[in-house]
Order: sequence, then C-alpha cells, then structure tokens
Amino acid sequence: MDNPQILRIQENLKLLKLNRTGQQLETLLQEASKNEVSYSDFLDKLLEEEISLKHEKHMALSTALAKFPYIKTLESFDFSFQPSIDPKIIRELTTCSFINRTENLVLLGPPGTGKSHLSVALGLKAIQKKYRTLFTSATALIASLNKAYAENRLEEKLKFYCVPKLMIIDEIGYVPVDIRINIKLLK
Ligand SMILES: Nc1ncnc2c1ncn2[C@@H]1O[C@H](COP(=O)(O)OP(=O)(O)OP(=O)(O)O)[C@@H](O)[C@H]1O
Ligand SMILES: [Mg+2]
Repeated sequence: MDNPQILRIQENLKLLKLNRTGQQLETLLQEASKNEVSYSDFLDKLLEEEISLKHEKHMALSTALAKFPYIKTLESFDFSFQPSIDPKIIRELTTCSFINRTENLVLLGPPGTGKSHLSVALGLKAIQKKYRTLFTSATALIASLNKAYAENRLEEKLKFYCVPKLMIIDEIGYVPVDIRINIKLLK
C-alpha cells in the first residue's frame, strides 16, 4: 500500500475515474502475477470490466431519471400472446431510428394489451443506446404544466420536458377530450 508507484497508479486511475480498478488494484496485480496473465490480457479484462461497470451505472441512473412506473422488458413480452403485433416492427423500433428521425410512435389498443409494457421496454432499449428518456402519464404531464403555468414557471418546465430525446406519454386515451382539443389548438 505504501509503494509509491501503486499509490501513483491509484491516484491516476482516480483522475481517469477508473474507480473499480483503483480500489482493487493490488488484488488485480497479485492475481495477474500469480496466474501469469499476459499484459494484453490483463489490460483487456480490466478495460472490459470498467466499461461494463460504467454501462451498469449509466443504466441504473438513466432508468431512475426516466421515472418508469415499473420495469418491463421486451424479452418478457410474449408476442405469441399478442399476435396483432409484428415482432419485426418492434425489433426495428429498438434501433431507435425513429428517435433520430424525430418521429412519433403511437401505440393503440384496448386496455391490458401491453401498450405500457412495450413503451417501458422500448424506453429501456433507448436508454441502452444512450438516449435520455422520460416516462410520464398524460394526466401527470398536464397537471405538471398547469402547475408550472400557475407558478409562472411554464417556460422552465417546458425546457425540462424538452431535454429527453425520447418522451413516453402514457394513457393519452384517458385524458378528457376537451383537453386534447385544447392541446391541438395550441399547436
Ligand atoms: N403480450 C404480453 N406479454 C407479456 N405481458 C403482457 C403482454 N400483454 C400484457 N402484458 C402484461 O399485462 C399487464 C397489462 O399490460 P399493460 O399495462 O402494458 O396494458 P396497457 O395496454 O397499457 O393497458 P391500459 O390501456 O389499461 O393502460 C402488464 O403487467 C403487462 O406486462
Ligand atoms: Mg397502459
């Protein structure tokens, strides 16, 4: 621990934000030397682990920021149970090219048919691809904008809602029709 070179490496790893390696440096070095691991294998494994840790952290933080009501994945969606949905179309949507094209995606269907499930699952895929994502119900969105308007903070709130690259607005169908008409008129 008082080896100046180790201390310097730890300090530099900290500056590079390679914290996992920094914390486990001595164990990693001892294991590599014991197992006679090649330099390239050592560096390769170390970087792979740092990157996978960073990815995990990114997923956890971005998923929390997205405010999903629950976590549902595409892998747990049973396409045989919902034959009206073409899995190929959903697979194409996971590429997120619709986000790059700034296109809207509308999921229509009777209650309980997996619209919210699919929207969360697609949101998670977007997060994996580093698209900032936010989930809200239409009612919560309108309430939040109304509140901001009443508090003279509408512009600030609109800026907040403009940050995500993917915004999922669930339960639009439950919003009273007169509000939907007003939204249309505002456009
Ligand atoms: N094809 C499916 N495979 C796996 N789970 C499904 C499928 N369809 C629905 N579910 C599950 O059924 C429940 C209801 O689905 P979900 O909430 O997504 O429906 P919805 O279409 O959003 O309904 P609503 O219009 O009432 O909001 C969820 O727990 C969801 O995971
Ligand atoms: Mg729903």
